[in-house]
Amino acid sequence: MAASAELIERHARPAPRYTSYPTANHFTAAIDADRYEDWLSALPRDTSLSLYVHIPFCETLCFYCACSTKASRRYEPVKRYVEALGEEISMVASLLPPQLPVTHIHWGGGSPSILAPEDIRQLAGALNRNYAITEGAEFAVEIDPRNITSEKVEAFAETGVNRVSLGVQDFDPRVQTAIGREQSFELTHDVVARFRDEGIGSINIDLVYGLPHQTVESLRRTIEQVMLLKPDRIAAFGYAHLPQRVRPQRLIDATALPGTCARFEQSALIVSTLENAGYRRIGIDHFARSADGLAQKPLRRNFQGYTSDAADALIGFGASAIGKLAGGYAQNAVSTPDYERRLAAGRLATARGIALSQEDRIRAYVIERLMCDFRLSTRDLVANFGEAARPVLNVAASVVGRDDDGLVAVTDDGLEITDLGRHFVRSICTRFDSYLDGSATHSVAI
Ligand SMILES: C[S@@+](CC[C@H](N)C(=O)[O-])C[C@H]1O[C@@H](n2cnc3c(N)ncnc32)[C@H](O)[C@@H]1O
Ligand code: SF4
Repeated sequence: MAASAELIERHARPAPRYTSYPTANHFTAAIDADRYEDWLSALPRDTSLSLYVHIPFCETLCFYCACSTKASRRYEPVKRYVEALGEEISMVASLLPPQLPVTHIHWGGGSPSILAPEDIRQLAGALNRNYAITEGAEFAVEIDPRNITSEKVEAFAETGVNRVSLGVQDFDPRVQTAIGREQSFELTHDVVARFRDEGIGSINIDLVYGLPHQTVESLRRTIEQVMLLKPDRIAAFGYAHLPQRVRPQRLIDATALPGTCARFEQSALIVSTLENAGYRRIGIDHFARSADGLAQKPLRRNFQGYTSDAADALIGFGASAIGKLAGGYAQNAVSTPDYERRLAAGRLATARGIALSQEDRIRAYVIERLMCDFRLSTRDLVANFGEAARPVLNVAASVVGRDDDGLVAVTDDGLEITDLGRHFVRSICTRFDSYLDGSATHSVAI
């Protein structure tokens, strides 16, 4: 079934991005440092860990950015923050059962590339001293190509980083001016070459569609340039425009933003161009070469988007960082002064979170499988959760029963989202979300 403008508008209505379920807007102060400490110490002795470190600093703010970060022209606040991170890293380790294997490390932001070489080494040293990082663990870092130097690239390589993700968004000069981010192709090409020369060959490029002045033609040119960089992975996010919540976005000229149908066309162009270039489409907005881990391993979804990270528990370090343990989610204080004050007082910086009920776990499983695999297996669901999954299976039956637009299809073992439905999978997932109450603002679902 082809997509009419009416159908696109109807199914692209705002919806969560489902990087967690329940989504973070439902976290409350009921989860505090005491509760998180209990969860940490109760982890079974064979739990594998994923460690996320948040660096909430950038040299300047891009107008579109919805990440938890702030601009800092001086380095002193960054230095102080790295000290606080060191405190938190050892405090959490002292609460955990000894020697839990770490299989995945991710530094995100903000811009971890703002760190001075000695702080890159200090932070990596703190992780190494306090945790049992397994041989072959993935160690990924988000990089702003505009603030990287040869010394920083060397420091990242020396500390064991084996995957980097570079922000690009768009190479078109008119788009770059409209989003407050000027970054030439030549500079980006040079940064990619420097990482490869240092042996960090696994490279992701971030793109964003739906930005001001972007067109199918301008995006096509950007993708052609990105192909010259030969990345292993590409993330192509739909621009989430929420100026009420994200102040810098008020600098974006809303009249220059592509409408919903134009976003649909841009997204479709990205999918067809990258698939023709040999990339596999992963979930809603990632693409990977078939040799890449993301295309091979069972896919998971977490706060960084799609990942091959199969660890049992996620620990978040830093302001606003979120951890996920068997008991639920725990998030640190969002502002860096608040985060630092709590640690200076000798406590963990946990400010809010949510404990998971069995029903939450079942719905989270369904939403994650739909976001990752575009299908739901009744057999797998019942094998994992038994009869408790029945009510959610009834929801699945009603999603199929009420679908007049060809977004889902019945399989011999559950349901599958069709090629058309893939554009609207976030909307389909809202049907399984029992928390959605219209109180939060979300971005358009395409
Ligand atoms: C932490 S940044 C990446 C690393 C580095 N700070 C940089 O910008 O080069 C995370 C990514 O989130 C994406 N992003 C940020 N704000 C967004 C928004 N409002 N809508 C969609 N994607 C967004 C961008 O693609 C950005 O590269
Ligand atoms: S996109 Fe990256 S560099 Fe730009 S403000 Fe956001 S985190 Fe900072």
